[in-house]
Amino acid sequence: MYRKSQPAVLLLLLIVIAFTNVTAQQKSIAQKVDSVLKLMTLEEKIGQMNQYNDDHTATGPVTLDNKKQEQIKNGQVGSLLNTVGTERTRSWQQIAMQSRLKIPLLFGQDVIHGYKTTFPIPLAEACSWDLNAIQQTARVAATEASASGIHWTFAPMVDIARDPRWGRVMEGAGEDTYLGSKIAYARVKGFQGNKLGDINAVMACVKHFAAYGAAIGGRDYNSVDMSDRMLWETYLPPFKSALDAGTATFMNSFNDLNGVPATGNKYLQRDILKGKWGFKGFVVSDWGSVGEMINHGNVKNEYEAALSAVTAGSDMDMESRCYKNSLAQLVKDKKIPVALIDDAVKRILQKKFEMGLFDDPYKFCNAAREQAALNDPEHVKVAKEAAAKSIVLLKNQNNLLPLSKNTKTIAFIGPLVKAVKQNKGFWDVEVPGVDSNFIVSQWEGLQNKVGSNTSLLYAKGCDIEGNNKNGFAEAVEVAKQADVVILSIGERRDMSGEAKSRSNITIPGVQEELLKELLATGKPVVVLINAGRPLVFNYTADNAPAILYTWWLGSEAGNAIADVLFGDYNPSAKLAMTFPRSVGQIPIYYNHFNTGRPATNDANRNYNSSYNDESIFPKYEFGYGLSYTSFQYSNLQMSKKKLKANEQIEVAVTITNTGKYDGEEIVQLYLRDKVGSIVRPMKELKDFQKINLKAGEARTIKFIINKEKLSFFNQQLQWVAEPGDFELMVGASSKDIRLKDNFELIK
Ligand code: NOJ
Repeated sequence: MYRKSQPAVLLLLLIVIAFTNVTAQQKSIAQKVDSVLKLMTLEEKIGQMNQYNDDHTATGPVTLDNKKQEQIKNGQVGSLLNTVGTERTRSWQQIAMQSRLKIPLLFGQDVIHGYKTTFPIPLAEACSWDLNAIQQTARVAATEASASGIHWTFAPMVDIARDPRWGRVMEGAGEDTYLGSKIAYARVKGFQGNKLGDINAVMACVKHFAAYGAAIGGRDYNSVDMSDRMLWETYLPPFKSALDAGTATFMNSFNDLNGVPATGNKYLQRDILKGKWGFKGFVVSDWGSVGEMINHGNVKNEYEAALSAVTAGSDMDMESRCYKNSLAQLVKDKKIPVALIDDAVKRILQKKFEMGLFDDPYKFCNAAREQAALNDPEHVKVAKEAAAKSIVLLKNQNNLLPLSKNTKTIAFIGPLVKAVKQNKGFWDVEVPGVDSNFIVSQWEGLQNKVGSNTSLLYAKGCDIEGNNKNGFAEAVEVAKQADVVILSIGERRDMSGEAKSRSNITIPGVQEELLKELLATGKPVVVLINAGRPLVFNYTADNAPAILYTWWLGSEAGNAIADVLFGDYNPSAKLAMTFPRSVGQIPIYYNHFNTGRPATNDANRNYNSSYNDESIFPKYEFGYGLSYTSFQYSNLQMSKKKLKANEQIEVAVTITNTGKYDGEEIVQLYLRDKVGSIVRPMKELKDFQKINLKAGEARTIKFIINKEKLSFFNQQLQWVAEPGDFELMVGASSKDIRLKDNFELIK
């Protein structure tokens, strides 16, 4: 109905392409986009805004649709998700090349923590606080994914999360806005490399815009109700940081924010993202979220859903089909101007041009390159390093760890010892032709590590879930024969992730009971906890002599764990999220307000802000993590004690490695604004440095305090630094503050 006659269009297109080639150097992409747009019918434009799932795998509720090929040929589809591998992407692209205008498809995929080579889950990796390492894993993921036909990853997830019941905490960088913003930046840089269009760059998609991490009660897809000030101060900065890093795209979110679904939220998408922040890329909806606005009760039908989403600034509809079914009618009914459609399409085409897909739609479909990239041994090294850096040493009584390489007999017990795929965690990609055997299990890792003088014994002991204790006796027997026991317990990998909220976050089944039996043997027991979220494990925390929180570490899990167990890597990670003692404490996070009746200790809970039946303290605080060595903090110096808004203070502190091992320390700088027109948190992370010190080595490091670090959003949502007193704290965790001083911001 909207078509121009075929030969005329083809001729015109040839002219455009020829012209494009000749003048490629001079013509800006924007001009090229305009010339393509001019050729497009309304239906073809709407097609660009339509994204389907390839039927191969699904990451959401599937809508059966066997007409995809035909629709692609008709120019009715702009992008596919969940299509992986050069062969498969090539075959879909060939179909798109049969369409009238031959506009290439974009292939999107959740490459969240690796493609073939799997890295630690993002929350684990965040605990490394190692921005270079984080950027590097994203870089490798992009290198593999782009070689395997992928143009676009739906990552990073930058949602701040304070509720470990929410299964998706595994996918983000934890609870802190400052750390989260830095990591968001690093991940976008890693995915996109030097520039879009490079052969190994994929477009990043920063998600979920916005505030999805604050779903009430930690229940996935739930509503979010928060003040604007909280939104701006705590939840939006990582998105802004990702934007500053140059992210190509954003994804909106499933939740409503203060009653308006994010997908149809004009304030978020048009006013903030595309308005105030000037974002030039495009916004994709989350899976089905355009249509889900009907369930939210915010629109009546698909027609209204499409109207709401497109008006609000959602450019591409993932899987709901509302755009496909209703946008043309909306234009016809004059509910939306074509200009609105044009704006969305231009944004999408712009990215397709930037990726170089108009020059060569099969640019990322080179099977030889795919093979080389997926088998690059360098990637495995990156995975091992990232995994080791993500392991958090929670407890190490009497320096039980590291284990001696001369240990005669080690009993390795637990349901996760020989697990293979579990180590991948949630959001792994099923890469065609690749099975999971390349993942190093914890058992293999230990086998690789120990010499012929050490004998390794194994017992499963129990399952991850269920009440069956039949394996306990064997486990105890095995433990009795050993000099040291290592017990590997935790969640199943799919217990944390999308749609994996849990009301009970203890270690499942009888695993802690197994630990009790093993401890009763009197043997030293090292516990490995594998999980996608902070779990509650008070019995283990209080009774096991040594605990490593190993999260899900990816392809090299086994080798990395073995490195840490035997001291070939000295653990350096620090928690990016507070670990509660009980579910009742949630939400619990370090940067809370003091309240009018602050509770300061557990002895006195009367008439203050606390629970009568629970400690006021978490089990492990934000920023906590041990090392095999120890660090002393000394000599805090400030270049001045009073600063004006246009000045800065240089802070120096000396860190000394006072232990026997070389090691890395994450030195954390916190500030407290003592009096504010808006109450300020007890402390806020404002900087950190990860430093490597040889045993006995001392180094003085410097931080800068400037206006930016003293500012917050006031009641009028202005970003201000208010004159007054500040407390400076430098420490090894949010609780373990080693040095303090005060300074004043003066007018
Ligand atoms: C839904 C998830 O919320 C989103 O993060 C993901 O990218 C899409 N599904 C696609 O798998």
